[in-house]
This record gives sequence, C-alpha cells and structure tokens, in this order.
Amino acid sequence: MKKILLYITIILVLYSCSKKNKSFPPNFLWGVAVSAFQTEMGNSDGSNNDPNSDWWVWTHFNVENNTGRVSNDFPEDGPNMYDLYEMDFDNAVSLGLNAFRLSIEWSRIFPDASGIPDAKEVAHYHRVFQALNERGLKPLVTLHHFTTPIWLHDPLWFIDSANHGSGPRGWLEEKTVEEFVKYAEFCAKEFGEKVDLWATINEPMVVSIGGYLNPLPGNAFPPNELNPEHMVTATINLMKAHAGAYRALKQYDRVDADGDGITSFIGIVQSMTDFAPLDEMDEDDRVAAEHANYLYNKWFLNAVAKGILDSNLDGKTEPALELGPTVDYIGVNYYTRMRVYKLHTPIFPEYPLIDFLPSFPEDCENNPCSEMDYLIFPPGLYNVLMTASSYGFPIYITENGIADADDNQRAEFLRSHIAQVLRAINDGMDIRGYFYWSLVDNFEWALGFSKKFGLFSFHPVTKERTMRPSAEIYSEIVRN
Ligand code: BGC
Repeated sequence: MKKILLYITIILVLYSCSKKNKSFPPNFLWGVAVSAFQTEMGNSDGSNNDPNSDWWVWTHFNVENNTGRVSNDFPEDGPNMYDLYEMDFDNAVSLGLNAFRLSIEWSRIFPDASGIPDAKEVAHYHRVFQALNERGLKPLVTLHHFTTPIWLHDPLWFIDSANHGSGPRGWLEEKTVEEFVKYAEFCAKEFGEKVDLWATINEPMVVSIGGYLNPLPGNAFPPNELNPEHMVTATINLMKAHAGAYRALKQYDRVDADGDGITSFIGIVQSMTDFAPLDEMDEDDRVAAEHANYLYNKWFLNAVAKGILDSNLDGKTEPALELGPTVDYIGVNYYTRMRVYKLHTPIFPEYPLIDFLPSFPEDCENNPCSEMDYLIFPPGLYNVLMTASSYGFPIYITENGIADADDNQRAEFLRSHIAQVLRAINDGMDIRGYFYWSLVDNFEWALGFSKKFGLFSFHPVTKERTMRPSAEIYSEIVRN
C-alpha cells in the first residue's frame, strides 16, 4: 500500500512539474506598448498636432537650428494613431493580444496653466479607452511618458538661455510635482471607470539621466545639461511625483472597469539594464558595474518600493515613508546588457558613485547588437527580473523590443527573451504580463523615425500599416 502511495505521489509531482514548465499563468497579459507623443501625430492637415509639450518645442528648435542634437525628423510625421487607433487596436486583436499599453499626453489634457481641461481631448481619450475595452484589450495607461507641458517645462532654458533662461524648469521644480499629482487625480476621476491598470511615470531615470547627465551627441534629451546635482534633484522630484500620483490614483479611481474586483493596480515603469563589468577579472570594473546597477536600476525603486531614500546619491539611505512603498507592481523595461568600466579619475568628485562609463557602442564590434547599438542579451532580462522581483511586488514587463528595419533579428529576439520570462516564472517570480515595444514604428525621440521597433511599419504618406513577418511569430507564441 505504502509503495502504491509513493508511486502515485511521484507521478503527481512529475505531472505537476511538467505542467509547471510549460506555460504562462492563465491571466497573463500579452500586449504591445506605445506612447502618445511617439505615435499620435501624423494626420495630413496637422490638426492632431500637439505643440504644447516640451518635446515638441525641443525637436522643432533643434531641427530648425540644425544643432546636431537630434535627428532631422518631426514628430508630426508619425503614424497618426490619434485617428487610426481603432485600426491599430484591431491589429493587436488579430495577433491574439489581450492588453495594450499606451499613454495620455498631459499637455493635451492641460494645455495651459489655467487648470481647465481640454474637453475635446478628454473625450478623445474616453473613446480610445472605450475602444480598447470593447475589444478585450486591457488598457495599461501611463500618465507621463517623457513629455511635460511647456507651461511647466521650457526645454530650451539651458541650450538657449539668452532667450529662455527664465523659463520653467520642469522636474527641477516642486511645482511640476504638485501639478502632476493634480493631473493624476483628474485622470483617476475621469478615466477610472475605463482603466484599472496604471503606470505613473515611464523610465524616470531616463528622464533625469537623459536630461542632465547624457554624454551621447545626436541623441539629446531636454534640457541637455551636464549637471549631476540637477540630475539628483530631478530624480527626487520624480520620486515625489510618482508617490503623490500613486496616492491620488488609489484614492480617486474607485471603479472596477473590468469586473475583476480590482479598482486600481498602479506601478512605476523602470528602465532596467543588465550591467556587467567590461573586464570580469578587474575588481574596479566589477565595482563600477555595481554602481551603475545601483544608480540606474535600484536608486528609484528603493525609494518607491521600499520607502528608503539616498538623497545625496552617496549610498547611504534614510527612511522615506512619504515616497514608498507606493507601488502595486513594478514595470520593467528591458532592452540590453551594458558593460561598464571604472573611470579612474572621477568626473564628479562630489558624486563618487558616478565613476563609470559604458563601453557603448564599441561593444558592438564583436557582439550581436541591434540597430540601436544595443547588445542583444536575453539572459539579461532574467537578471533584471531577479533584481525587480527582490522588492517583493508583482512584475509586468512593460517594454522589451528591438529596432530592426529588415525584420531579420526580431523573431529570434522575441523567442529568446520570452523564453527568459518563462524561465523566471518557472523559478517562482510573479510575472503577470509582457508588452512588446512597439506595435507600429514610431518617433524614437532624438533619433526620429530611423529606428524601426514596430511589429507593423507604416507608409509615410497614406499611413497604411504593413505587418512584418515577426509579428506572426509573436502571435504564435501568444496563442500557444
Ligand atoms: C522608451 C520608449 C522608447 C524605447 C526604445 C524606452 O526607453 O520608453 O519610449 O521608444 O525605449 O528606445
């Protein structure tokens, strides 16, 4: 009898293990991600253009003055998702997806400092969210995806200080924090009946490092100042903005949009890079990789997921309960592994943790890379998921993708990265969704339209979408 019981137990264990290693959890979200500024504009008469964000002003000024900071492209030549969203949502449904990540353009809702929302734009986003829900695509809505209204941020205050020196300074100012929280409250009350899954801010470290510590010529983020003190101030204000917006969304989104018993589920979207030492044997490089990991991946998460703040960026933390925990989940954007090396002469002696430089794009000479010159390294996704999971919250992979105009790397990219997601799930990580960046080619910020991340391309004049073969592969993965 004992023996029989033992055999039955062994069979049951083997059966459950084999099941466990096969598939994604039942309510797993499969989606694509886009952002408003990158995709909305592009109709023929320009009536959908939004000139009220800092990035609009930034791109126009730099292109028109030929500064070399950005590409020669204009965001108003984009895929016109503002008008064509139903077609794009239908395309997502045809791939078998059940979720869609997109953002609200803050400067469309509040185009000026009056505090009066633009009724036409509010109605527009209602229609957009409605269209998603009708198609069974769960909306994941980001409130801030890089762009800030110009009445809060004059992006030229630094590079054209003679004319703009007194302009508002965005995330350097507390006012931007306060206004962001008001905007979050508005969105919760207005759209809460259609949206449950929210992201407050997309990649805050890209906003602050990109704006104040970015050495990449030709890929400049506003205001393109090299000033670590400002980078720290902007980061801490972004933490405060996130925490305030989290609380506003929790308090004012009281409606369960899809009947699953949850009225709001709110996270931060963190860009996470798998940092590694350039020379594994070099102790200094190993420490440099730890510093990069701390600054870029963990500093912000420590504040909002643990409630501890390193206010001087010196590695010492204090409790900061006003900042966190203020997440229901962590959104992970993963694109690449980056190898870093130690700078033996510190660039900013007052910030000893900023003592490294990436071996980017040189590493591409001998390794597989994307058209962004990013190393293609699928296990890096697993590594950053381990870091994100260590905070103890559920995880969505809110972005993962590749620029690949010829579509000859994307299918393998998808397969190999999604395999790492499954590996992480099988190792017990609570991962609830995967969003490919992006559905359709779009405005890749300072790099313009040259970088093609889309599962679909679009015709520059007719805006017609054409599916790339790799979209089929994504669809197959999702359906199995
Ligand atoms: C951003 C997207 C961007 C993508 C590809 C992420 O950093 O959230 O807006 O297009 O990476 O570079």
